[in-house]
Amino acid sequence: MGFALSLCSAVAVLLLPQTVVGHPNVDHQLRSSDLSWKLRPTHNTQQFRGLAPISSEIAWVSGTNGTVLRTCDGGTSWTDLSPPLSPENATNFEFRDIQAWNSKHAVVLSIGEGNLSRIFATHDGGNSWEATFVNDEEEAFYDCMAFENKRHGLAMSDPVNGKFRLVETWDGGSSWAIVSDAGMAAALKGEFGFAASGTCIEAAAGRWYIASGGVDPGRIFFSSDGHDWDVANSSIVGGEAAGVFSVRFRDAKHGIAVGGDYTKPNGTGDNAAWSQDGGRSWVKSKSFPSGYRSGVSWIHVEKQAAVAVGTSGSDVTFDGGKSWHTFDNGTFDAVECVDGASTRTTSITLSPMAPSGQIFSTWRPPTALSSSCHSSFVRSIPDTIAIIVTSNAALQNGQPASGKTSSLIKSTEYAGFMASRI
Ligand SMILES: *[C@@H]1O[C@H](CO)[C@@H](O)[C@H](O)[C@H]1NC(C)=O
Ligand SMILES: *[C@@H]1O[C@H](CO)[C@@H](O)[C@H](O)[C@H]1NC(C)=O
Ligand SMILES: *[C@@H]1O[C@H](CO)[C@@H](O)[C@H](O)[C@H]1NC(C)=O
Ligand SMILES: *[C@@H]1O[C@H](CO)[C@@H](O)[C@H](O)[C@H]1NC(C)=O
Ligand SMILES: *[C@@H]1O[C@H](CO)[C@@H](O)[C@H](O)[C@H]1NC(C)=O
Ligand SMILES: *[C@@H]1O[C@H](CO)[C@@H](O)[C@H](O)[C@H]1NC(C)=O
Repeated sequence: MGFALSLCSAVAVLLLPQTVVGHPNVDHQLRSSDLSWKLRPTHNTQQFRGLAPISSEIAWVSGTNGTVLRTCDGGTSWTDLSPPLSPENATNFEFRDIQAWNSKHAVVLSIGEGNLSRIFATHDGGNSWEATFVNDEEEAFYDCMAFENKRHGLAMSDPVNGKFRLVETWDGGSSWAIVSDAGMAAALKGEFGFAASGTCIEAAAGRWYIASGGVDPGRIFFSSDGHDWDVANSSIVGGEAAGVFSVRFRDAKHGIAVGGDYTKPNGTGDNAAWSQDGGRSWVKSKSFPSGYRSGVSWIHVEKQAAVAVGTSGSDVTFDGGKSWHTFDNGTFDAVECVDGASTRTTSITLSPMAPSGQIFSTWRPPTALSSSCHSSFVRSIPDTIAIIVTSNAALQNGQPASGKTSSLIKSTEYAGFMASRI
């Protein structure tokens, strides 16, 4: 389900302390008090919730008013690559989720009633876009999408005839077909998904997950093929504006989920949970994020570190979601970490330039690169991690919500974190 929040946007990057550079025991060195976000201007006034970082240099973001931006220089500059929507009114289009594989190939999801739920794809860096899916079911409302590799993806809609609706692509978003709902577990009355951060559907390690709300508790559906689904209660509080907003797995077993009530940004308790059995059961966190959280992303799978963000702050866990530590009180909507060494890349190809399973430290970019990108990408990136979030920059800065956005960061600023692992 879509919902309106406040209105301006930013992308931020997480700064990690230099003191951990090269240190073998990052967990003992890294404290939540060492973490901070750094905002940088993108000179665009839309609110971005769709976030697809490819590397520390390339990232796509998508947002309100049919807007898509891409950076190829780590956020120093952004190019507006929004699909042409005329003669329709671009103001009506909210691109709440984006998936991208490199600087050329991206797929963006527009949420909304009826034919406002659409998917657009580009294969030429946004020079041309094709509407590859236009919803024609009255009941459907698409919330989010996920891909397990360059080809296979699912987009998820609020229930149609009592079951979450899925459309599937096998060609990287160029064509979509409705998935039979025969294998889908039934939704409860009033159950729906949140189009908050593009992470209400997740693909990881060959498995799929859907996060729901509208019912108490929020639930998490799970599947080993994207077609046959079972469902488990989460421990996360649900309600009209509450439930599970984001679910992420770092392998086939270990997952985290966050949520809460978006109308109570400071509401604490029962807003985070973890699983160690592939989502068959969920355990309440021991200590919670300090408010409603709309997005979560694993940072560092071996060390079980993850970051959660929401309208009232950001939190980090170092123990796979059992305990959370707040490190910032700014307003953010979505978070994605780029980690070439993560377990996720064994099933999700982040970019053809960084093939599955490779770690950035051993990865060498090909010499021939897309002409639409800056040459700053053509260098080997040593042991880096980049973390970016979309945000309401205006609230972040305690200023009126207009005219502010921010951007990404240079990979070198994260060098310490990854270096410590290897
Ligand atoms: C939305 O986009 C259109 C077309 O680019 C532009 O004319 C309009 O000013 C934008 N609206 C806002 C609120 O930014
Ligand atoms: C586009 O939609 C917005 C909001 O619904 C409205 O204010 C604006 O007048 C519309 N513009 C056009 C050209 O229809
Ligand atoms: C979407 O629906 C509107 C209103 O029914 C219609 O005018 C428009 O042509 C439709 N657009 C597409 C792409 O189907
Ligand atoms: C899930 O939660 C609902 C509401 O509290 C409860 O009725 C149901 O029995 C629970 N299901 C399981 C399998 O625990
Ligand atoms: C949440 O807490 C912050 C900081 O104490 C406060 O400024 C804000 O008004 C609170 N928001 C709500 C909706 O209570
Ligand atoms: C957020 O944190 C900053 C820096 O610690 C502090 O100055 C500010 O008062 C905090 N704002 C709220 C609303 O708690």
